[in-house]
Amino acid sequence: MDLGILELSDEQKMIVDQVREFAQSEIVPKAAEIDQTGRFPKEIIQQMGQMGLMGINVEPEYEGAGLDYLTYSLVGEELNAACASTGVIFSAHNSLACGPVKKWGSPEQKKKWLAPMARGEKLGAFALSEPGSGSDAGALICTCKKVGDAYVVNGTKNWITNGPESGTVILFATLGTDLKHKGVCAFVLDKDTPGLSVGKVEHKLGIRGSGTSQLVFEDVKIPVDQMLGQEGDGFKIAMATLDGGRIGIASQALGIARAAIQAAKNYARERETFGKSISRHQGIQFMFADMATQLDAARLLTWRAARMQDRGLKFTREAAMAKLLASEAANFIVDKALQIHGGYGYVNEYSAERHFRDQRITEIYEGTSEIQRLVIASAELAEHAR
Ligand code: CAA
Repeated sequence: MDLGILELSDEQKMIVDQVREFAQSEIVPKAAEIDQTGRFPKEIIQQMGQMGLMGINVEPEYEGAGLDYLTYSLVGEELNAACASTGVIFSAHNSLACGPVKKWGSPEQKKKWLAPMARGEKLGAFALSEPGSGSDAGALICTCKKVGDAYVVNGTKNWITNGPESGTVILFATLGTDLKHKGVCAFVLDKDTPGLSVGKVEHKLGIRGSGTSQLVFEDVKIPVDQMLGQEGDGFKIAMATLDGGRIGIASQALGIARAAIQAAKNYARERETFGKSISRHQGIQFMFADMATQLDAARLLTWRAARMQDRGLKFTREAAMAKLLASEAANFIVDKALQIHGGYGYVNEYSAERHFRDQRITEIYEGTSEIQRLVIASAELAEHAR
């Protein structure tokens, strides 16, 4: 992963080494079983909490590790190279749940909601999408009505990563659908709040160890002091949070792709056809050349977006580019890695088929590839753009 001139700091290298050692020794041996049983890897998440990984960007004042976003990406790649289920639990918790409280929470909210997440005691979830509103995020119909000193919420949220296991939820609801995106409000609340229940739990193609469910809100009362920002700030909070989240998904794609390449290399070196290792056939060599080139290009874009976030620059366009390229490069890579395995790639004796299934969601969640293209095009064609 060393990209030569893009030298990492000594601290970043040390953390990558530590997380890689942990991921390879503690997670890799369990990854196939987590996938096959679809179980939530609770003990791994607990260990990650003890290592400070569940509040990786949260300031030490609120009991986080206080590390930068590039380190978040590097750690995400390592975890995802071991197990993409564990990787998305880490990513959704850190960027989508801790992220908005860190950025928009008051000191009191951070103490109450952010610190327990950063300690790894409460798992976070981000409830934006609905059965009828995914790509068109502003079309949500889950309502929040102010009654006295609370908002009363009714509606159903869909595709919520960490939904079943979460302790803390970041919720987006509207004051009125006629207000469009200007009516959206953001809240932080406990998953045990009366009236909030877990609905349908999904059975997925990949990332099967991470829980994905509906969250159902029936007359849920949320005190006014649990709103993030002001009334109507919710849509921008969701969009800006997703900018950071997309770096997490780009990093997930890098991790899955890297693991797929490694698996294909191991196989290609041991498998012989026509009297020699298949790694000595030019048709296979060209696949490795293309896979490695795509992976490095995707990593460069991902690191650029993360560095821009670290420098406080606007990085909406760059995060969308990173996610678009990394997820589509990963699609190419997992497909070629499976092909190199031949028939063995199609059965679960090898990890190639798991990488193939796990990759596919990276082109869908936190904004489909089509949404990333919209975001990039809108930045490219904006009046102030050169
Ligand atoms: N940061 C801050 N503000 C932003 C922003 C950003 N990145 N993007 C847009 N805004 C602001 C705009 O400036 C605009 O503000 P004004 O009202 O002041 O003008 C406002 O938000 C509305 O912007 P748009 O007109 O561009 O909004 P739109 O309705 O056309 O939608 C979109 C734009 C890019 C298509 C957006 O809807 C989008 O990103 N959709 C995809 C949503 C998504 O990624 N969902 C995934 C959910 S999470 C998940 O996957 C599950 C999980 O648990 C992992």
